[in-house]
Amino acid sequence: MNLSSYSVLLIVSGSIAACKIPDILRPLKAAGINIRCVLTQGGAKFITPTTLQTLSDSPVSMELFPTADTESPLQHITLARWADLILICPASANFLARIANGLADDLASTLLLATTTPVLAAPAMNPHMWEHPATQHNITTLTERGVTILPPVYGTLACGESGFGRMPEPQNIVDAVLAFFRAKRQKTGPLADVKILVTAGPTHESLDPVRYLTNRSSGKQGYAIAEAFADQGALVTLISGPVALPPPAGIHTVICETARQMHHTVMTMRPYDIAVCTAAVADWRPEIEKTQKIKKNEKIEIPTCSVNSCHSLTLVANPDILAELSQPSSLRPKLVIGFAAETENLIPHAQAKLRRKGCDWLIANDVSLSHHVMGGDHNKIFLLSHNQAGECQVEEWQTLPKTEIARRLVQRVIMSHQKK
Ligand code: CTP
Repeated sequence: MNLSSYSVLLIVSGSIAACKIPDILRPLKAAGINIRCVLTQGGAKFITPTTLQTLSDSPVSMELFPTADTESPLQHITLARWADLILICPASANFLARIANGLADDLASTLLLATTTPVLAAPAMNPHMWEHPATQHNITTLTERGVTILPPVYGTLACGESGFGRMPEPQNIVDAVLAFFRAKRQKTGPLADVKILVTAGPTHESLDPVRYLTNRSSGKQGYAIAEAFADQGALVTLISGPVALPPPAGIHTVICETARQMHHTVMTMRPYDIAVCTAAVADWRPEIEKTQKIKKNEKIEIPTCSVNSCHSLTLVANPDILAELSQPSSLRPKLVIGFAAETENLIPHAQAKLRRKGCDWLIANDVSLSHHVMGGDHNKIFLLSHNQAGECQVEEWQTLPKTEIARRLVQRVIMSHQKK
């Protein structure tokens, strides 16, 4: 994700949850976001300015009336104007009370009075403090004024008590920030208003309640592509098989289990402007899905088999989502991109697949186990498309992180989209 044009002002107030700030700062920095930190006196009891300065790569501000000549006495105004988003994290009960009442007795509370920037707050406190009518009243006041509250979650707190008061997990706070910027991009990005489908991951085809047929797809390439499109402002629908990845922030994600469920979901959610089918959809499923677990000694398909433990499977074909999406029709996306997972004769097989499926572009990758593509973080692809004479052209890309392949692919799509 590259959000280098965006800035977050992080206000850290006094709660033990401040010790989790490094796990929030690092991914936000990794996403390219510019960050400046303001530390309250209470916050400084739990995390040092040096830690914040190191992780944010920016000076940390604490004083409303700085003593050093280098710092401006108008910081509360410059910081109030600087950010695209102000994140109060953790937001202590005391800090929420001060800003709900419009106090301006330190740098953080004063700049919040002086800003028109959207504010996101992640409260963290003892459950009784959170449930106290005074805190709830302050939360209502702040919500009515447009502050977005990321409510605390249930858990055991540092004080040993359990209840609602625990700050949401760092990843959830990071996701809320990323979702905010992705939503902003949807109004201004180069793919604003463009509806994209990405299929990803494997499918599971059940044999019985405990067993299924599947493949080694991790979904990483598809998820990276979905995120790269969202970063450019597209309205992305990610339709995924079962994977170990969390749904990406701000992306409408639908999880399916079987090829038939994925096919049904894809078709009912049409139309799309662009479709990218990265899913390793199982081509086949067992003809019969047993309602009870198949027992070791049960003969399942070959009635004439004389050996008790003889098992074989009858498989039937699953619908081909990519081929169906590529069919000429009023619902056909303007650009359909498929993937070819091959283990031999990569280019000839991919060329045949491009013709057979009827898609516009095909991304061929060698998924032999020795290449560590399935489940790995890197990929090497060949992009197949048609030149103006309708001939197939093949472009070789170097080995790159899957996230970088996704970013470059999206840039390529933007170029082709702008030409149309
Ligand atoms: N695909 C699909 N639906 C299927 C099978 C595949 O949408 N039932 C899509 C994949 O998402 C991918 C492309 O078709 O974009 C090619 O998938 P791949 O597994 O490489 O090829 P197959 O069509 O399964 O053909 P083969 O197994 O012979 O390589």
